[in-house]
Amino acid sequence: MKYYYILTYGCQMNVHESEKLAGILESQGYLCTENKEEADVVVFNTCAIRETAEQKIMGNIGEFKGLKKKKPNMIIAICGCMSQQKNYPEMLKAKFPFIDIIFGTHNISEFGSYLIKRLETGKKIIEISETENISNRDNMPKKRTSGINAWINIMYGCNNFCSYCIVPYVRGREVSRPKEEIICEIKKALSDGFKEITLLGQNVNSYGNDDREKFGTFAELLSDVDKIDGKFRIKFMTSHPKDLTDDVLDVIAKSNKIIHYLHLPIQSGSNNILKLMNRHYTKESYLNLIDRAKRIVPDAEFSSDIIVGFPGETEEDFSETLDVVKKVGYQQLFTYIYSKRKGTVAEKLENQVPIAIKKDRIKRLISLEQEMASKISDKYVGEIVEVLIEDVHPKKQGYVVGDTFFGKTVSIKGDASLVGSFKMVKITSSKLTTLSGEIVEEIC
Ligand code: SAH
Ligand code: SF4
Ligand code: F3S
Repeated sequence: MKYYYILTYGCQMNVHESEKLAGILESQGYLCTENKEEADVVVFNTCAIRETAEQKIMGNIGEFKGLKKKKPNMIIAICGCMSQQKNYPEMLKAKFPFIDIIFGTHNISEFGSYLIKRLETGKKIIEISETENISNRDNMPKKRTSGINAWINIMYGCNNFCSYCIVPYVRGREVSRPKEEIICEIKKALSDGFKEITLLGQNVNSYGNDDREKFGTFAELLSDVDKIDGKFRIKFMTSHPKDLTDDVLDVIAKSNKIIHYLHLPIQSGSNNILKLMNRHYTKESYLNLIDRAKRIVPDAEFSSDIIVGFPGETEEDFSETLDVVKKVGYQQLFTYIYSKRKGTVAEKLENQVPIAIKKDRIKRLISLEQEMASKISDKYVGEIVEVLIEDVHPKKQGYVVGDTFFGKTVSIKGDASLVGSFKMVKITSSKLTTLSGEIVEEIC
């Protein structure tokens, strides 16, 4: 028996890429293990979005030094966004001489051949490409590991170059995937029993921008996915507020599959900061978009990403952010402390905000978020809503967790046999941001 162990960091894109790496390993006869000591192949699928992510990964790689000494035949591979950064492969090689294979974000589909080469020749491998033929990546074997959800890539890369962000440098330019292939993969996932489809792209609203005639628009793609027969849910991530058009909102409004939950990262509520961030919208145009979305999809809920402490952010700028949070009433916020990334435009900006101020701001933001989110939770108490049961409860025995059509998690009494089913659930209570409910038998 040969075993593999994958450590995944970062976003959903990486989670899905690890499913592809697992697919390759299983096609070569390896089995998954949760015990790293047992592993013959270890893969670090890394992230570079913030310094804290990198530090954590470096620490985790370092921990394998001793294991590799005990088990010299263990192959250790590093891939993902961290290895794609300029000068990083050399740095990683010098810092961790026990690493066997380093490959970049555009070399994923070749992992299987690197592994064979390493085993046959004993030579260390470093392969970092700047571009790739995406159909190789799309056609990789996949071992889906995300419960009832199937991740489906619709595009790769990002052209936006937000001034703080490393992603365009490590993921390359936007490339769309042909619609027929996307639909075909979704149909296969549904016939395999998956109940939730999440369309993945750094900026899904840019789908087709690289060749409109060939690919069409994101609204058209979404509408075609919605037309596929069967009872299932559709999600997508991520939308850039500058690109979310009304035709997409119209498709969502008419659908009973596409969840009424929109993740619209604002990053900051201050127009000065948004300009420095290169986001191409203002606080006013963002709020206008939220108003349009609320008009077209009246029962929609919203979430957002916010960065605090971007260079030059004053107390006044930050109060604009708090103002947006109050006005929109997000169901959920993902909040981050600004982290300087090498090679980005913001790296060169002066007026870095002291860490104590950043920490104070994020604390205030989170406290406002919780206040707003619990108000939203409270309004569902007493309602009967459709819930897709996602998994057994991670902590509470005898309970399962599911998602409402508005992207809210509900904890319900029940066992594993419910996972993957749709139930009508009466919301009985809400605690801070989580809901509890009970299945209303007569309706399901
Ligand atoms: N493509 C997506 C996700 C990008 S990464 C999007 O555009 O929304 C996810 C989030 O990480 C971003 O939305 C941003 O809020 C945060 N982020 C990106 N770079 C960062 C940095 N240098 N410091 C802190 N947070 C950052
Ligand atoms: Fe980064 Fe901006 Fe692209 Fe999102 S849209 S991945 S934040 S550059
Ligand atoms: Fe991280 Fe790369 Fe995703 S930097 S957030 S894993 S695109």
